[in-house]
Amino acid sequence: MKHADSTTAPSADGVWEDLRLAPGLFRDDRPLAEHEAASLVVQGGVLRWVGPSSALPLDYAGLARHAGGGLLATPGLVDCHTHLVYGGQRAGEFAMRLAGASYEEISRAGGGIVSSVRATRAASEDELFAAALPRLSALLDEGVCAIEIKSGYGLALEHERKQLRVARRLGRALGVTVRTTFLGAHALPPEYAGRSQDYVDLVCSEMLPALAAEGLVDAVDVFCERIAFSLAETEQVFQAAQKLGIPVKLHAEQLSDMGGARLAARHGALSCDHIEHLSQDGVDAMRAAGTVAVLLPGAYYTLRDTHLPPIEALRAAGVPMAVSTDHNPGTSPALSLLLMANMACTLFRLTVPEALAGITTHAARALGLSETHGLIAAGRPANFVLWNLREAAELAYWFGHNPARTIVRQGRIVKGA
Ligand code: NIG
Ligand code: FE
Repeated sequence: MKHADSTTAPSADGVWEDLRLAPGLFRDDRPLAEHEAASLVVQGGVLRWVGPSSALPLDYAGLARHAGGGLLATPGLVDCHTHLVYGGQRAGEFAMRLAGASYEEISRAGGGIVSSVRATRAASEDELFAAALPRLSALLDEGVCAIEIKSGYGLALEHERKQLRVARRLGRALGVTVRTTFLGAHALPPEYAGRSQDYVDLVCSEMLPALAAEGLVDAVDVFCERIAFSLAETEQVFQAAQKLGIPVKLHAEQLSDMGGARLAARHGALSCDHIEHLSQDGVDAMRAAGTVAVLLPGAYYTLRDTHLPPIEALRAAGVPMAVSTDHNPGTSPALSLLLMANMACTLFRLTVPEALAGITTHAARALGLSETHGLIAAGRPANFVLWNLREAAELAYWFGHNPARTIVRQGRIVKGA
């Protein structure tokens, strides 16, 4: 596969004419009627103007023209929860689960996250980069323009550093916005068996400060669960993050209701993710704190979970819902964000507009990127996708199909030039 590289691709500067903007995912400078042909103006890699083609200001009339061909335009997609950098894969566990073993049983028997930790520790930075590159390219080829990448398969300073450095390097190499999240508290490393508190102390007093000082940490996450870290341990990590002024997020209430969402909300978390077992209390706390609910239907599907996240309660409370791949080798080896939008509708009963906001606007918010990503609007870096589709609903309707015809990422035409 050719890795679309926005650092060398042709510039997108000029007027993009004859587009149809997906409803709800743009902010116009001149009012745009439904079905009216729209234009976007890009200058210096930045969106300057959005509105009806018929109202294009004269100042832009002399710019280069890009024919939009009546295609449907959306903002670049945002994948706000991934564990993209790791060694090996876990198809063997997939087979074990098919034979009846549960995720928790496999984890308690020394498989699960810890088996990816072994493979990640054994891999060099270059090997991790080479393994992650085609995965990232697959996501980008469908229009992802910003992505979160977590650590959490190193579980020791040098190996967590290696993962986060690879995440940064991927962003530079492919010209895509990467937000790094330190997930040192993902699982207890085997050498700390029975010494959970000692490991959490290490995460808080050594690993996090060192990695933050190297500029490798945009956010901090914890896996708060019976098979991972307790509420008290989670709070300790959050306090360490807060001391450094780094925002937090949480793997919360995936397998049981630990009260993690309430705690995260109290710490002003950007997002609570998974949340299949979220209580009404948790919903209320998230609403009050403005915390985004990140739904991960790929993990729900892979684990053949049957406990649905409380969508109706989140909707009623007005909690913004994002949708992400949760790409990871154990519970969601997913490389299509559009498929996740489809699953969010089919499995979780999101409406199509909710699913589309979930992979754009609300996902950007879950990463603290509300001002720059997830919406077509003047003043933002030019990140948008033109789709070979008649209506926006088709984005969530087709699956196993990539209708992205043209992709502009960071002001460059990385696909369909
Ligand atoms: O988001 N829930 C915890 N972490 C990952 C799974 C990681 C793994 O199994 O390797 C998740 O689903
Ligand atoms: Fe995850």
